[in-house]
Amino acid sequence: MRWAGRCPDCSAWDTLESFTEAKEPECAVPKGEWVASGAEATGGRAVRIDEVEDLDVPRRSTGISEFDRVLGGGIVPGAAVLLGGEPGVGKSTLLLQAAAMLAADGVRVLYASSEESPQQIRLRADRLLGRAAKKATPNLYVCTETNLARIAEQVREVDPAVVLLDSIQMVHSPHVDAPPGSMTQLRRSCHELVQMAKTANRSVVLVGHVTKDGQLAGPKVLEHLVDVVLSIEGDRHDGHRVLRATKNRFGSTQEIGLFEMTATGLHELEFAGASIEPNGPLVSGSVLMATMAGSRCLPAEIQALTATGFPGSTSRRATGLDGSRLAMLIAVLEKHGGIQLADQNVFAAATGGLRIIEPAADLAVAMAVAGAFWGKGVTPGTVVLGEVGLTGALRAVGQVEKRLRELARRGATHAILPAAQAVAEAKKGLKIGLLGVSTIGEAVAHLQPCRPSAWKNKSQESLNPPILEDASGIR
Ligand code: TYD
Ligand code: MG
Repeated sequence: MRWAGRCPDCSAWDTLESFTEAKEPECAVPKGEWVASGAEATGGRAVRIDEVEDLDVPRRSTGISEFDRVLGGGIVPGAAVLLGGEPGVGKSTLLLQAAAMLAADGVRVLYASSEESPQQIRLRADRLLGRAAKKATPNLYVCTETNLARIAEQVREVDPAVVLLDSIQMVHSPHVDAPPGSMTQLRRSCHELVQMAKTANRSVVLVGHVTKDGQLAGPKVLEHLVDVVLSIEGDRHDGHRVLRATKNRFGSTQEIGLFEMTATGLHELEFAGASIEPNGPLVSGSVLMATMAGSRCLPAEIQALTATGFPGSTSRRATGLDGSRLAMLIAVLEKHGGIQLADQNVFAAATGGLRIIEPAADLAVAMAVAGAFWGKGVTPGTVVLGEVGLTGALRAVGQVEKRLRELARRGATHAILPAAQAVAEAKKGLKIGLLGVSTIGEAVAHLQPCRPSAWKNKSQESLNPPILEDASGIR
């Protein structure tokens, strides 16, 4: 509670009245403009869908094309976006970079931080953006505030088109009788900020921290209040970051944005996905495929490792891949590929932070596992596509032409794919050699034996010099 004599909206004196706000029912539909304006258009009556006026959604580019792509083509005025991610993944970095790009483009931006002081923000902005920060200066406002009422006051004062709030967990409303960070506070703050966006047609981006299991005071509770929910993911020890939409009222949730965290902030990956090197070494347990991520095709590397375990208690681990699909593929390999993996621990992973759950990756996963077990690999420059059925037969892959064209552009020389598709695609004059296979057994027969890796020989030399004589026969 604080004293105020002048209305912040109409600037009239002595017109404010004190009142006690009624408690909101827990499951009330938000009472914002967006509900009212939608209803106004039809007077609340039901109308035939073809009589509804077309809504042309305007969008503002954030200046970061990977961010725009995930947003569905840019940020929509009046939209509320929630950006979640584990601490340290790069949420503040992404937001500050977007803020500067927007501001440099003439959009007035307010960056309200509850964690960093304006000096810290400026220091970071200077480091991240260098000269670009100067161009953004006249339109980029920063403040450090956790009190919702005062944030709203700053918004009214600065009148920005885009409000960035880092982070929602720290914000609290003085009118709510609950401790900061509690669910009630979170829901209330988010609701008010969303209303603020809708009524004045501002875009609002809220940052929310999430733990590994997606819990902690948060974003899950807020998801239904906002229009777009984004998450940024990546391993702290690896520079790759993937931006995904889990909800988007203005675009697809299939698109992903790919970045690399460097000493100068998040950089967009120009040639996203794995690199294809036809002159590279033959590596056992590594197979390339191409996955569809929204409208884009990305080359991806599947890696596998097998190691002897105890029969009956072996483990099968999938990273970035579907675990139950991996178990199924191991069973199919045993039954139809001539491999006994019962006493093997099997690990399989999609590299580069990608999450590949489409069945088109089946054959690549199966060949990576078989290759890891046999010490074999796929010829460099060759990419593998195909869904594996329970009978061991291969099934067609969706959007195969698009995948093959992109693979050829990225330097792939050959593709192993289901026979029927190889025949059909061969007629299209694609610049990539096609090798048709009908079953998983036929496919694994194309694996090539690898020479023992250089580091293995080196370690043998240093650990156990007498073995050199035996090893020389291999080299
Ligand atoms: P940050 O954006 O603060 O993460 P979040 O807001 O999600 O908690 O990023 C923090 C990490 O990113 C930090 O560990 C350091 C690293 N980083 C860089 O590697 N380069 C940079 O230019 C910046 C700004 C951060
Ligand atoms: Mg942060």
